[in-house]
Amino acid sequence: MSSWSFWKAPSFWTALIAILAYWDARALTGDFVYDDAGSVVKNVVVNGSVDWKEAFQRDFWGVEMTTAQSHKSFRPITTLTLKANYLLAQWYQQKQQSRDNHNNSSSTSNKGHPPTVSFHVVNVILHGLVTGLVTRATPYILPNNVVSQLIVGLLFGLHPVHAEVVSNITSRGELLMSIFFLVAFLSFANTRQATEESLHLHPLSSQRQRWWQRLLGIYTIPWICMTLSLFSKEQGATTLISLVLWDFLKYHGNVWNLLQKLIQKKKHDSTTTTTTSQHQQDAVTARQFILRTTILAIQTLLVVTLRYILNGETSPDFIEAQNPAGFAKDRLTRAFSVCWVYCLYIRDALWPYYLCPDWSGVSIDLIRSIKDPRAMAVVALWYMAAQSFWTMVVGGNFSSSSSTSAAFVSTKSDAAVDAGQKKKKKKNELTVSPDWWWNDATLRQVNMSIWAFAFSPFLLSSNILVVVGLMKADRVIYLPLFGFCLLEATLLEKFRAGALTMRTSIENRKELLFWAAHFFLMFQLFVFCGRTHERNVAWSESLRLWEAAYAINPRSHHTMYNYGYELSLKQRYTEAEIVLRPIGDPRVESPSNTFVYAMVLFNLQRCNRALQLLDDAFEVIKEKRKEGGPRNTDSHLNRTESNLLVAKAHCTDDLQERGRVLYQAVEIDPTNEYAIGLATEFMKKLEQMNLL
Ligand SMILES: *[C@@H]1O[C@H](CO)[C@@H](O)[C@H](O)[C@H]1NC(C)=O
Ligand SMILES: *[C@@H]1O[C@H](CO)[C@@H](O)[C@H](O)[C@H]1NC(C)=O
Ligand SMILES: *[C@@H]1O[C@H](CO)[C@@H](O)[C@H](O)[C@H]1NC(C)=O
Ligand SMILES: *[C@@H]1O[C@H](CO)[C@@H](O)[C@H](O)[C@H]1NC(C)=O
Ligand SMILES: *[C@@H]1O[C@H](CO)[C@@H](O)[C@H](O)[C@H]1NC(C)=O
Repeated sequence: MSSWSFWKAPSFWTALIAILAYWDARALTGDFVYDDAGSVVKNVVVNGSVDWKEAFQRDFWGVEMTTAQSHKSFRPITTLTLKANYLLAQWYQQKQQSRDNHNNSSSTSNKGHPPTVSFHVVNVILHGLVTGLVTRATPYILPNNVVSQLIVGLLFGLHPVHAEVVSNITSRGELLMSIFFLVAFLSFANTRQATEESLHLHPLSSQRQRWWQRLLGIYTIPWICMTLSLFSKEQGATTLISLVLWDFLKYHGNVWNLLQKLIQKKKHDSTTTTTTSQHQQDAVTARQFILRTTILAIQTLLVVTLRYILNGETSPDFIEAQNPAGFAKDRLTRAFSVCWVYCLYIRDALWPYYLCPDWSGVSIDLIRSIKDPRAMAVVALWYMAAQSFWTMVVGGNFSSSSSTSAAFVSTKSDAAVDAGQKKKKKKNELTVSPDWWWNDATLRQVNMSIWAFAFSPFLLSSNILVVVGLMKADRVIYLPLFGFCLLEATLLEKFRAGALTMRTSIENRKELLFWAAHFFLMFQLFVFCGRTHERNVAWSESLRLWEAAYAINPRSHHTMYNYGYELSLKQRYTEAEIVLRPIGDPRVESPSNTFVYAMVLFNLQRCNRALQLLDDAFEVIKEKRKEGGPRNTDSHLNRTESNLLVAKAHCTDDLQERGRVLYQAVEIDPTNEYAIGLATEFMKKLEQMNLL
């Protein structure tokens, strides 16, 4: 990569294409949807109500970390970039307004909230950056050629699963985390590879790397990046684990191999002197690996401990309904259901059709017995994971010729092998390497893709170490998808290599194979593009987002609530009633749902049913008050009850009675501006009527 120029680098092109895929005027200028209110507009750190330094004491939603209400999501880096974005947007808004005033036209821009366009643009550019970095990282894992880089980069950049992360302003943490992860990896891999190359190519020369280069590239930059990654999003904590796994698989391949090097069992080889020095060197590399791993582990522990201390005394309080699989009491149900969710993620990676921002509650059935046919898929997953894991312990069973020498897969030597194969092919058509399809180097690539780049970044979302507050969300496989892209690229690379090395007798078939793979990839990218665009546009508006969500996952109560609510805002009451009906009863989910449903019923002139449900809801609130707990705080229940009273007032015909109910609503929650507004309006109306 000596003459690295911009437009010749595959990473530049993949990044550009990834950015263009999301460049859509509707999507870029959409509304703040859903959580953006909490994370941006009403986040006290971001909207400037408190000093920016508070970002280091508050969680992602602007709540003090040490309080029980806090979600314990400490992401100051993400919060600060949102804050910078907010200032930029405000500045832009002011400029536009002053220009409008200057031109003496009425200001048309939406007052209050700054425009979203700069938030979206930054997210899209960050995604382009991640895609570029992914492309740059590929040659350290796969054989170094432009084709595999382009395949990985394009698959990653265009994958529709990523639309949620890129289009959801609040998900910026994922993007930042991935960037720091990849920078750490590039620094580490680059330094390691340079060391290894100088060791093999000129073992005796003094052209080794300087110690400070190694200190910087292996220990310092990755550590800093890992810390930044962790403080962008919790999943960044596993960054250094990925690096160690890569290091291990690339240079040692399996535990057995590493142990052999360590113990330095002398084989009875004929050439004595060279093998001895080789053995000694192997032992040194193995010991260095152990040392490196220990240091990186200590670094990880230090940062993770610091992060843990920041949580304060209390631990996050997740609602069980958000992750029924992880919180399932029965051990078998838990194991199978959690792993079934992994299977669903794999399905999404391969066939990204069922994409939806919400999979909470009853969206996914738990696997309660082994007789459930889905348990087969889980067992298959376990079997494959175990197989792959086993090869990391003892290695694969290959013919001895390839397994020992292929250990060192350098960029240069690999390119040389590639070229060499081509030359050989020209000379003698029958020279075919017997293990071109499956050999040790391939096994290592596959294991690396699975464990270092799919599993490790996913570890903290996997419910294995800690139970998380969500059952399934597209955003958690943002970075792990890199591993899947690598796997697909490995497969396609094999088709390509196969087409180059097969015998003449099957010339036709090999061409067929090559073009089939080619067209499959093109088709896939084409479909991805379309779906990504569709998802991206869906995110521009709340109603559209929840409409799409409801189409994919109509079982989630949360989706029903949001879709019904959005419909009622647009005064599409008949549709809203159908959507909300299953959750209208306060005992199904919560009394707040009943409020929205009752208002819809009121607008449909069905007050009888509404009043019935409201009475139930008041009962439920009473019960909840008795129950207590962090979810049933007084302020929360008061707000709900106040809203319910407002709904009741709407359905009360008697004017005096209505006034009394409205008064009660304001009394219970004097901060409920909605109730206050209605009450004052009502008073005014009464006064007018008296005057008449
Ligand atoms: C910032 O957020 C707080 C808390 O939600 C809110 O009370 C305040 O009005 C917001 N400020 C602005 C300028 O939007
Ligand atoms: C003011 O309005 C006129 C047309 O009404 C337009 O040509 C001009 O560009 C505007 N000026 C600015 C600064 O936007
Ligand atoms: C500017 O606006 C004022 C009222 O807001 C109006 O009286 C005046 O005619 C406008 N000037 C021009 C040049 O449009
Ligand atoms: C957007 O992302 C945030 C943070 O990752 C997440 O909490 C939220 O649920 C997402 N929004 C939707 C609608 O899924
Ligand atoms: C390795 O493969 C050979 C055949 O290729 C087989 O005979 C041998 O039993 C295998 N060894 C192990 C440990 O699986």
